Amino acid sequence: MKKPKILVVGSFVMDQIVNPDIFPRQGQTVFAKTFRKAPGGKGANSAVAFRRLGSDCVFCCKLGNDANGALLRRVYEKEGMDTRFIATDPDRPTGLAAIMVEATGANRIVVYPGSNATLNEDDIDAALTSYPDALYLQLEISHDAVIYAACAAARKGIPIFMDAGPADPDFPLEKLPKLEVFSPNETECEIFTGISPSTPENCLRASLELLKRVDAKYIVLKLGGRGCFVCDGKYYYCVPSYDTTVVDTTAAGDAFTAGLVLHYLQNGSIVQAAQYGNVVGAITVSRAGASTSIPSEAEVAKFIERNDISFE
Ligand code: RIB
Repeated sequence: MKKPKILVVGSFVMDQIVNPDIFPRQGQTVFAKTFRKAPGGKGANSAVAFRRLGSDCVFCCKLGNDANGALLRRVYEKEGMDTRFIATDPDRPTGLAAIMVEATGANRIVVYPGSNATLNEDDIDAALTSYPDALYLQLEISHDAVIYAACAAARKGIPIFMDAGPADPDFPLEKLPKLEVFSPNETECEIFTGISPSTPENCLRASLELLKRVDAKYIVLKLGGRGCFVCDGKYYYCVPSYDTTVVDTTAAGDAFTAGLVLHYLQNGSIVQAAQYGNVVGAITVSRAGASTSIPSEAEVAKFIERNDISFE
């Protein structure tokens, strides 16, 4: 598939980012060196990644009728996305995220969903009229909207990919139809399975546990600096990461999964797709911000050439 059209049904929030040297402990107050406001949201970050990496991207989400909503809509129009299915909630504000990024690049995030919570079946039905080649979901909108979108796409024979963030232990994984890929990060994996993917053995145990609850062709565990772990229930692969300077890990998972999905749709090999996702993730962590840190297709190609990476 040359240039797939990917429908992202997901969240769109305005990130408020502070950079303290260390995270405060309970009851502690610390100072931040910088404050920034930037476009974010797991859905939006992945949509930006799909677009910058060279696919057609249709983005379905819900904004508030406010200044943040208007600004974010302009940002995504400029990215060249199909924004016809970005709806507006007249009553709720655009979602917000409070993000702390400490000196190591690690982050802690609290999301106020705002208008994302009211994305509904009509919005999703409208977006599905765009005839996508694939549907891409995360869990930052309502459980009902996620299940509805997945089931509607499955009825139409559209392949479904899911990034498992943010993990809610009450999310009814069993209600999802057949997925191509289900991809949690380390924390999300532990929330869903009770197993920390700290060793290859634990990654395998956690993946097999997930496969009991999720009807997915592949589980892809995102392991940060350790790369990722791919499992189809029969075979597994540890796919190492690439060396980089970690500045800010925000949106790296969103960008990784988008890169993986796009490469998989174009080439069909999940292991090569995981390598490509690792490159996208490595560049994203080397820069500050959420969607601001996501690389273009040309930047990824340059990284691959400079580091002499061959896809096996
Ligand atoms: O995955 C990173 C994103 O999570 C941030 O952009 C923030 O908006 C939260 O949704």
